[in-house]
Amino acid sequence: MSDSIGTEPAPLVLRRVTVRFGSFTANDAIDFSVGRGEIHALLGENGAGKTTLMRVVAGLLVPQDGTIQIDGRVVRLTSPLDAAAHGIGMVHQHFMLISTLSVAQNVCVGIAKAGRLFPNLSQVARDLDEIGARYGLHVDPHALVGSLSVASQQRVEIVKALYRGARILVLDEPTAVLAPQEVEGLFRVLRMLAAAGTAIVFISHKLGEVMALSHRVSVLRDGRLVTTKATADTNPAELARLMIGEDLVLPQVDGKHASGPVAIETRSVHLRDEFGVPRLSDVSLAARSGEIVGVAGVDGNGQQQLAEILAGLQTPSSGSVIMTSPDGPIDVSHSGPGERIALGLSHIPEDRHRTALVDMSIADNAALDSIDRPPLARWGFLSHRAIRAFAARLIAANDVRCTGLDQPVMTLSGGNQQKVVLGRALAHSPRVIVAVQPTRGLDLGATVFVHRQLLAQCAAGAAIVLVSTELDEVLALSDRIVVMFAGRIVGSMTRAEVTLQRLGAMMTGQTA
Ligand SMILES: Nc1ncnc2c1ncn2[C@@H]1O[C@H](COP(=O)(O)OP(=O)(O)OP(=O)(O)O)[C@@H](O)[C@H]1O
Ligand SMILES: [Mg+2]
Repeated sequence: MSDSIGTEPAPLVLRRVTVRFGSFTANDAIDFSVGRGEIHALLGENGAGKTTLMRVVAGLLVPQDGTIQIDGRVVRLTSPLDAAAHGIGMVHQHFMLISTLSVAQNVCVGIAKAGRLFPNLSQVARDLDEIGARYGLHVDPHALVGSLSVASQQRVEIVKALYRGARILVLDEPTAVLAPQEVEGLFRVLRMLAAAGTAIVFISHKLGEVMALSHRVSVLRDGRLVTTKATADTNPAELARLMIGEDLVLPQVDGKHASGPVAIETRSVHLRDEFGVPRLSDVSLAARSGEIVGVAGVDGNGQQQLAEILAGLQTPSSGSVIMTSPDGPIDVSHSGPGERIALGLSHIPEDRHRTALVDMSIADNAALDSIDRPPLARWGFLSHRAIRAFAARLIAANDVRCTGLDQPVMTLSGGNQQKVVLGRALAHSPRVIVAVQPTRGLDLGATVFVHRQLLAQCAAGAAIVLVSTELDEVLALSDRIVVMFAGRIVGSMTRAEVTLQRLGAMMTGQTA
């Protein structure tokens, strides 16, 4: 697991790799290696350069300087096909699958170009079954990718890489999209692959995962390599310090916000999906201003639907949603997101990359929620100067690491894209905030920052519904916690009443 075992050269060695975007240096002379059978974790704040470095390995970026060696030989990787031919596979932060094709078809996309004109899909399906059986990576080769859960899509990405013969596997924040029990499943697969000799690069912001899974860990900061260490020789506190360059101060929560009147509530809401399957049953939930209500539960138990009902993206099959405006309660059951935004609701959606950003500059994205209100717009005219000033404030306040207002938002690092969405959602002192997995993909510092923001908004009188599968997060922030199971609220308790045992029992459907 060192650079070389005996005389055998390491599968992947990067030397002094440098990547610049214009005058900005995203990777500065980085040395990095992964041995056979090694799981090497790559850590760093949002924008530190992790994805960029791995895009070099995947053949998506050609560095301005430095070399890549595979099995001891210097190679030039100018396309993902090049990289695949050298045994490199990458599972991206944002998946690269085509949702209208089947799993087997997705696995073959691009291979045809490499010379095999007509892939034999039934043979591919058999091969996928075999890979699935060997590593516990089961996917239905005939399923449409668009119909699969996120965790299954991730398995497809891994299977795809293995099918193409990957001996070096790069996973960019693979756990950010998984529920805790799915993380365990992924780790089993990765350990098995490593035991079979695969060299693995694992990117994550979660230090617990890095400690549990990796053999070595490298830390990037501002595009430079800070250190590479054996995981056994370090600890989470040291890693946090290496990433941030200083100690991290956690926000103090006193647990007793002064809560006011109910700002939003659902009354006996039922929701059936397009196939008539009940997704929510008899859900009554109220959030008072100055209160954070945490919605806990294993992913997929109706939290997503509840958030969409609150935000106006879904209409209840029966029951109602009430928001309180300064003029009294208003039934908003049948009003859309726009009307609720006008009543002071702000929604931080789960899938921010897909639903919350458009392929334009940072400035334009920052202004998206605000272009119909002063000072950005007056009498139907947009003020570009006001938009730019607004965006500049948002970037400064949220520590969005970028080269300027005109940088296309899609070229920001994953975590910095999140910061734009969050900053936008919290910019107008919302009266109600529906936050779904608000810190997914954020580094430690940014996570603490968002927690502080939510606490500050709450102290200023916002009613916050916080949906999160991260129990630590729910426990750290919520005044009251409700647990969802199978589309129902199965329990509600104050922070003082919470025990992990009670919570765990409720989350798995055992009511006390
Ligand atoms: N195509 C590009 N044009 C300009 N700048 C870019 C481009 N791609 C990346 N960058 C910049 O390079 C820096 C490093 O980005 P990168 O995506 O590697 O960060 P990261 O460590 O993966 O962060 P995160 O944890 O948020 O995913 C960022 O500041 C980003 O804005
Ligand atoms: Mg990244």
